[in-house]
Amino acid sequence: MNASEAKKTIAALSEKINLHNDLYYQKSKPQISDFEFDQLLVELTRLEEQFPQFKLEDSPTQRVGGTVTKDFETVVHRYPMLSLGNTYSKEELQDFDKRVAKGLEGEPFEYFCELKFDGVSISLLYENGVMKRGVTRGDGVRGDDVTANVRTIRSIPLSVKEKNLPSMFEVRGEVFLPKKVFEQLNKDREDIGEETYANARNTASGTLKMQDSRQVAKRKLDCFLYYLLGEELSISTHEEAIHKLESLNFQISPTYKKCSTIQDVMAYIAHWEKRRTELPLETDGVVIKVNRLDQQARLGYTAKVPRWAISFKYKSESISTRLNGITYQVGRTGAITPVAELEPVLLAGTTVKRASLHNANEIARLDLRIGDHVFVEKGGEIIPKVTAVDLTKRSKNSKSVIYITRCPECATSLIRKEDQANHYCPNEKGCPPQIKGKIEHFIQRKAMNIDSLGEKTIEQLFDRGLVKTPADLYDLRREDILKLEGFKDLSTKNLLAGIEASTSTPFESVLFAIGIRFVGKTVAEKIARYFKNIDTISKASFEELRNAPEVGEKIAESIVAFFKDRDNLREIERLRKAGLQFESSEKEPEKVSDALGGKSFVVSGTFEHYERDEIKEVILANGGRVLSGVSAKLDYLVAGENMGPSKREKAEKLKVTIISEAEFQKMLKG
Ligand code: IVH
Repeated sequence: MNASEAKKTIAALSEKINLHNDLYYQKSKPQISDFEFDQLLVELTRLEEQFPQFKLEDSPTQRVGGTVTKDFETVVHRYPMLSLGNTYSKEELQDFDKRVAKGLEGEPFEYFCELKFDGVSISLLYENGVMKRGVTRGDGVRGDDVTANVRTIRSIPLSVKEKNLPSMFEVRGEVFLPKKVFEQLNKDREDIGEETYANARNTASGTLKMQDSRQVAKRKLDCFLYYLLGEELSISTHEEAIHKLESLNFQISPTYKKCSTIQDVMAYIAHWEKRRTELPLETDGVVIKVNRLDQQARLGYTAKVPRWAISFKYKSESISTRLNGITYQVGRTGAITPVAELEPVLLAGTTVKRASLHNANEIARLDLRIGDHVFVEKGGEIIPKVTAVDLTKRSKNSKSVIYITRCPECATSLIRKEDQANHYCPNEKGCPPQIKGKIEHFIQRKAMNIDSLGEKTIEQLFDRGLVKTPADLYDLRREDILKLEGFKDLSTKNLLAGIEASTSTPFESVLFAIGIRFVGKTVAEKIARYFKNIDTISKASFEELRNAPEVGEKIAESIVAFFKDRDNLREIERLRKAGLQFESSEKEPEKVSDALGGKSFVVSGTFEHYERDEIKEVILANGGRVLSGVSAKLDYLVAGENMGPSKREKAEKLKVTIISEAEFQKMLKG
């Protein structure tokens, strides 16, 4: 393809992808499959790599991330990001109404009500229609420039097309992790033995400040906007601002309402009190704003907050009940979760009997004692939590809870590493919930996808001594299954067919299914493609593993330990004999050029234009080879920022050519 063709194709592809992105995220009416969408993105990425000069400023490829930021730049907000005055009572809200009426000297006014989204506030700066900057609130005056991360949020337009817009305007809103995404994220983490996150808000905040935007893109953050700022916007009310934002394709929560009186506001608050729990994100109140912008200006600000707006916070329902005891659950990876066993009590429409206590630290923090009366709260989340002890009701001779030292299921002594909040049962191979958990992990949809097998059947198979490891599944016979409760001819046939069919599951999924700690689905896919088959992985050294995409120290260590274990090797042999796929059938990534023609590279440090894995992919795609360590045979050491001095010394000693990122890019252009 020549330059002028490339320029045209890049522009056309960008437009096409933006259109489909809009159909999917703003209009919820996709016209092409996710696969087709991804293909378009891949094609555009490839062209942009070859012809970076034609990459558009609002290119949709930015959505997948790729920029690594070491320290976020501090940016001064053009308009400070203020917070809101809070109230929990209807009386205070009446007072607010009176203050507004007084401030406006009897002039009629209206309110605009929105929910108060519990996320992280963000300010988006648009210049000539293009999103130039995304900045966190920070201290209200200065925030962090997290633009690369913000660009991965699909519902935020990278550019807006309307002629009559001022050259500069700002849009503000709340970045959040949808409840479902947060739950799935925690499930996935639990499944591979990572500690779970405490709540969606903090996780959203942490995600927005991650240094590698590619990781951010995977987290699926979302954003609701609620504020338009700028000069000459030709709007005179907040309502018009919201409608303008809607027409520009910004995502606005449809929960807003204009209210003429404070009574209408009260009705709005009552309307959403229960219903808000059904929304896709957490909310903790209502924001009430005076609708007319000229009236907002007249009311002005106190030192800290606007006089034209206030937030009403919902009280999370709380009730006191007796803590009858603490039980302990054992997860698939052996993690112990303490659970509060409560005297059943009615709270926000449901009977609450149990609440998670997370870990030993939480029990110590609350200073829980059996027999205590504790306050149980149900916030926006569905799972109730114990928030405090009612000390007035504590009996004098109560004793602090002594955390268990042995596994409640198999009596093995528990362990707790220094940096971990949870205790673990190390009896991986003999602890019943861990064994069953491993089989459940193995059959799940993302793994072997044996949907004819459920939790209950696994329980029965385990209890009857028929299945102790995943490989046992492939030895099951018809007679075995017919003995199980609820299994007849047809269901037995289906179960066996499901197990049989799973043997054609691709290697990428098999590698995830065998349950190596910390190896999630994405990591398994990357390693499978990189090493091609299980034998290479099992023989790979720590260093070689570290060199593979997505593999850090923790994962490399875990893989090495897994393949050191003879039982694991035996299990893999049995699975191999059963016909499972242990070789990747993925094709080699397509070559973009042969600019690096067989030359070998080691990359070290951090780069401006690539992340570590990406630069390796670029080397491979352009005909080069990637090595793990500096040796005399090496052609080039690509030196990024913060490269370790020992690597440089070794390369200098062995007379290996050291090149910078810019020199590397020059080589690519040939
Ligand atoms: S308006 C000048 N509207 O609440 C005030 N804020 O406590 C501009 N928030 O920092 C804010 N939902 O992060 C506004 N519908 C909403 C909101 C909202 C959540 C957050 C925002 C702000 C904080 C103030």
